Amino acid sequence: MNYRYLGRTGLQVSELCLGTMQFGWSVDQNDSFDVLSTAYDAGINFIDTANIYSRWIDGNPGGVSERIIGNWLKTADVDRDQIVLATKVRGPMRDTGPNKEGLSRHHIMWQVEESLRRLQTDYIDLYQTHWFDENTPIDETLRAMDDLVRQGKVRHIGCSNYPAWRLTEATWAAEYAKVVRYETLQPHYSLVKRSEFERELQDVCETYGIGVIPYSPLGGGFLTGKYRKDAELPDSVRAQSMQRYMTDQNWALLDTMDEICAAHDKTLSQLALAWVMAQKTIVAPIIGPRTLAQLADNLGAADFVLSQPELAALAEKSAWR
Ligand SMILES: NC(=O)c1ccc[n+]([C@@H]2O[C@H](COP(=O)([O-])OP(=O)(O)OC[C@H]3O[C@@H](n4cnc5c(N)ncnc54)[C@H](OP(=O)(O)O)[C@@H]3O)[C@@H](O)[C@H]2O)c1
Repeated sequence: MNYRYLGRTGLQVSELCLGTMQFGWSVDQNDSFDVLSTAYDAGINFIDTANIYSRWIDGNPGGVSERIIGNWLKTADVDRDQIVLATKVRGPMRDTGPNKEGLSRHHIMWQVEESLRRLQTDYIDLYQTHWFDENTPIDETLRAMDDLVRQGKVRHIGCSNYPAWRLTEATWAAEYAKVVRYETLQPHYSLVKRSEFERELQDVCETYGIGVIPYSPLGGGFLTGKYRKDAELPDSVRAQSMQRYMTDQNWALLDTMDEICAAHDKTLSQLALAWVMAQKTIVAPIIGPRTLAQLADNLGAADFVLSQPELAALAEKSAWR
């Protein structure tokens, strides 16, 4: 496993980050433990979660993924100081009440204690705002985060799903107020989802040295090759949601990916991850394996280096401008 600096910080993380949204939802606690331990043994030191995972599922109270990670930290043979733990705040953590969600000082101070308790740790390495809160001034959010860093409860802060102007505004606001700034961005980014990040955010991140940890690098599974042009669509919610990617352009992209993979004896998933890892500003794509087999496959991306002609061919087939 190779390690990269997390943006301009002095912290090094594995070039694959383990996402855990699936824990306690489509993966039970025992299997989650296996995925966590196998990833750790393979050198992955970077784990991403969020307080709300997976509150959108009927009967799921949220906090479940954090709780599973906390239980694993307590029971597995691992060193907490060898792990870079990232979680998020913003989404609703109660059904009712005026402060059940958001990025106010009130909500952040409440939720950081809840996350620390569930994770069974006394610090969070990377505390991220899950998406922006248009009702809270950015300096209120940043000052609350700055206090948490000074208290030692949080080491670095990052954000997710911010448009370019909000990320720029936040970076300047932090500079002006002399408080901690967002060192990372977590955007949606893959070969089938390029424009949202590449249009403006990538330049903002490059300009300010913000490290990028993209989510859904396999397009939720489309880029694994499990969905094919002439194959019947499996009867699952996930498969239905993949229909958005089933375009002539993306089928042609898969053909090109097949050719490159054949030349390297690699899988499509590994190629999709290697492509993300080769893009400027990227620190580590966040993988979301549900099984040990998927994890083993994803890990094979770590040493996959693409040539310039291969990168150019993939860029052309996934062009969006
Ligand atoms: N910040 C945010 O708003 C946000 C949003 C979404 C996700 N995230 C983070 O990003 C992580 C990853 O997101 P994601 O799950 O959408 O990532 P993804 O890598 O695009 O998709 C992962 C899914 O692809 C399938 N898969 C993975 N490896 C495979 C393989 N080798 N062969 C066949 N299928 C394979 C599995 O789904 P099936 O087996 O069901 O096909 C797996 O759940 C999450 O866990 C979370 O930490 C953050």
